[in-house]
Amino acid sequence: MRPLPPERIVVLDFGGQYTHLIANRVRRLKVYSEIVLPSQPPERLHGVRGLILSGGPSSVYSPDQPPYDSRWLETGLPTLGLCYGHQLLARHFGGVVERGERQEYGSAQMTVTRAAGVLKSFGPQERVWMSHGDSVKRVPDGFEVLGATDDCPVAAMGDPKRRIYGLQFHPEVTHTERGLTILDNFLSICGCERTWTMEQFVAQAQGRIRRQVGNRNVFLLVSGGVDSAVSFVLLTEALGEERVIGLHIDNGFMRLRESQLVRESLEKAGFHNLHVVDASGEFLEAVKQVADPQEKRQIIGDTFIRVQTEAVHRFGLDPEHWILGQGTLYPDIIESGGTRHAAVIKTHHNRVQIIRELVEQGRVIEPLDQLYKDEVRQVGRQIGLPEALVNRHPFPGPGLSVRCLCSNGDEEPISDDARRQVNDLATRFGLKGDILPVRSVGVQGDARTYAHPAVVSGIIPRSREQWGHLEQLSTTLTNTVPAVNRVVFLCWPETLPALGLRPRHLERSRLDLLRLADDISMTAIAEDGVMEAIFQFPTILLPLSSAPQGESIVLRPLESTDVMTASFAALPVGTLEKIVTRMRALPRIEAIFYDITHKPPATMEWE
Ligand code: XMP
Repeated sequence: MRPLPPERIVVLDFGGQYTHLIANRVRRLKVYSEIVLPSQPPERLHGVRGLILSGGPSSVYSPDQPPYDSRWLETGLPTLGLCYGHQLLARHFGGVVERGERQEYGSAQMTVTRAAGVLKSFGPQERVWMSHGDSVKRVPDGFEVLGATDDCPVAAMGDPKRRIYGLQFHPEVTHTERGLTILDNFLSICGCERTWTMEQFVAQAQGRIRRQVGNRNVFLLVSGGVDSAVSFVLLTEALGEERVIGLHIDNGFMRLRESQLVRESLEKAGFHNLHVVDASGEFLEAVKQVADPQEKRQIIGDTFIRVQTEAVHRFGLDPEHWILGQGTLYPDIIESGGTRHAAVIKTHHNRVQIIRELVEQGRVIEPLDQLYKDEVRQVGRQIGLPEALVNRHPFPGPGLSVRCLCSNGDEEPISDDARRQVNDLATRFGLKGDILPVRSVGVQGDARTYAHPAVVSGIIPRSREQWGHLEQLSTTLTNTVPAVNRVVFLCWPETLPALGLRPRHLERSRLDLLRLADDISMTAIAEDGVMEAIFQFPTILLPLSSAPQGESIVLRPLESTDVMTASFAALPVGTLEKIVTRMRALPRIEAIFYDITHKPPATMEWE
C-alpha cells in the first residue's frame, strides 16, 4: 500500500464533475487530499482531518443514487458537503430536501445570514456558482442557515458543535469569488497544519523512491513532456545514474526541437543517462501510403513497441533487477481504479493490461502518483528544469501524426442540400457557410463519428458577444446538419477559396511545415501570457488547397479540466492576428481556420 502523508482530507466522490478540482484546491491550501469512493468502508482514518462530500448528478431521492457507507457520516470528523453532498447531509441528519422542478444553474448572489464557520469573515453579500435541481428546505436540528439566495433558502448551513457544514453552491470553481477562502476556513476548522508543499515532496522523494525500488534498477521512457522528465530526474537523483536508464524515442512526430529540448535540459541539469533513439525514418516508412486515421494510429503504436523492444534488448536489462518507471499522475490512478467514469474513459496508456500485471507484481515505480499536473510543474521548476519544458501542454503519444491529416484524394460526396442548409443557417447570423471536403473524428453519445466540418466566413470575433454568437451557430449547425460534426470559421483569406482534397500522406516535408506552424501557435500564446489559460492547443494541417502543393491550417485552442469534455478557447484577438500573420508567411499555406466546436460533439484532436 502506498504510504500517505501524515495529515489529509478525504474527498468522497459522488460522481460530480468537479471532484478532482476540489481535491486540487485543497492541496493548493497545503493539505494533501485524496479521492475515495463513498461505497468503501471508512478505514485508515488515521491522519484524516476532515471529509468533503462532492457534488453529483443524482438526486438524493433517486434509485440510482451512488451507493455509500453511511458510517462516513458518523465519523465525528469535520465534514463539508457540497451540492449533492449538502443535500445528503441535510437528509441524513433529519432535514428536508425538496425535489426541484427546474435546474438552477449559474451565478447567484448569496445573502450571508451568519458570517461564521466556513463563512467566517464574509461580508453581507457573496457571488456564488450554483448548479442544482433539488434544494434543502429545512435544516436538521442543530444546524443553522448561514446563507440564502433568491431561489435557494438554504444556500449554506452549519452545525458548529459537530463541525458539519453544507453548501448548495460550488466553492471549488473560480466563479465562486471567495470559494478558496471557504475551503481555507474549513481546513482551519479541521485543525490542519498545512504541511503539503512541493518542497516537502521533493525533500522526501528520495527516501520514498529508495524504499520502493530496493536494490533494483529503473528503466523509464522519456517522452518529451513534463511528467516523464520530472520522474526521470527524481529517480536519478534518488538512485544515481548507473541505476536509471531513460530512453527517448524520436518517432518523427515530435514538435519543433522537442527531442533536442529534452536532451539538452537533462544534460544541462547534469544527467547523462538519457539515451535518444532517432527512429523517425522507420516510423515514416511504416506509414508511407496510409491515409486512414485508425490505421495510422495502429501502425504507429505497433512500430513504437517494436522500436522500444529492440532498444531495451540492446541494453540487455535483466527483468529480475530492472523495474519500469512511469510518469503516471494522481488523476490517472484514480480514473483507472474503477471509479464512475471507468466505462467511458479511454484506458489510460499507463494502465493497459500488461502494465497492470507489472503493477500487481510490484514492478512499476511511479514517483508522481500522488500529484496533480500543476504540482508536477512546481516540482519541475524546483528541480531546475527550464520553463519551456515545465510549461508544455499535454501531447498525444502519436504526436503530430494525428494532427497531420492525410488523404488518398478521394472526396466523399457532400449533398447540395447539406451545403445549402449550412449556408442558410449561417446567413441568419449574417455570415456565409459551406462544408469542407475533408473529414474528422467526433464523439456523440458513446459513438464515434467521422464527418465533415462546416466552415463559416465573414467574421473575426473581437468581443465576448461575437464569440457567443459563433458558439450558438456552431451548436445549431452540429445539431441540425447530420453531415457535419465540427465547425470552423475562416481566419484568412477574407473569402473562402475553392479548396479541393489532395492526395497527401505523412511526408517529412509536411510534418516540418506543421512543426513550424505549431511553433508559431505555441510561441504566440507564451508571448501573450495565455499559455496557462489553455489546456491544449492542437494546430492541424489539412490536405486542402487549390494549388497542387498547397495546404490549409486549423487552430484548435481548448479549455478542459477532465479531458472527457472540452470547450473551444477564445483567443484574444491580438494573439489570433499575430498567429495568422506569422502563419501566412509560411510556404504553401492557402487558408487558416479556427475550430469552434466543443467536445462533444467533436473530439479535441481531429483524428
Ligand atoms: P480526444 O481527441 O479523444 O483527445 O478528445 C482527448 C485527449 O487525449 C489525447 N489523445 C491521445 N493521447 N495517445 C495519447 O497518448 C493517443 O492516441 C491520443 N489521442 C488523443 C488528446 O491529445 C487529448 O488530450
